[in-house]
Amino acid sequence: MIKVLFVCLGNICRSPSAEAVFRKLVEEQGLDETIKIDSAGTHAYHIGSPPDSRAQEAARRRGIDMSSQVGRRVDDGDFYTFDYILAMDKSNEYHLREMAPAEEIHRIRRFLEFAPGRREQEVPDPYYGGHTGFENVLDLIEDASEGLLADIKVRISRVITKGQ
Ligand code: 4NP
Repeated sequence: MIKVLFVCLGNICRSPSAEAVFRKLVEEQGLDETIKIDSAGTHAYHIGSPPDSRAQEAARRRGIDMSSQVGRRVDDGDFYTFDYILAMDKSNEYHLREMAPAEEIHRIRRFLEFAPGRREQEVPDPYYGGHTGFENVLDLIEDASEGLLADIKVRISRVITKGQ
């Protein structure tokens, strides 16, 4: 089992969107028994809240239902549980690094490292903007999700090869 945690600030816009988009991709490829996916925020503002309605609408337009997701904060156990802890922006990455035990920092990456064809290094916070911000977030997430899945497949095949 490979475990992936997407992280943003509030866990109501970007990281739950990444969770939902990546889960759909993983399910389409029949890998949902192999890859566990979750999301969390670095801050506690929206614990227990559903995703932002604008994020839900944008996802729905792409055939994705986020309505059952619930906001939570990153906790200490996450640094031992998840193989990939993926920050949406540099500020999230900084906060995760501050929180993590030194020996687990290697699990933290920026999500857009997996979208090398993109100039952007961060998924921008859409909270205070309009609808186009949410569409842009999904476009970036879709690109990085493809790259992330390819990376995970390499990791899985290495484990299988080692086991033989
Ligand atoms: P997210 O967006 O980090 O993508 O979930 C935000 C959500 C809430 C706030 C900021 C960003 N806020 O300030 O409450």
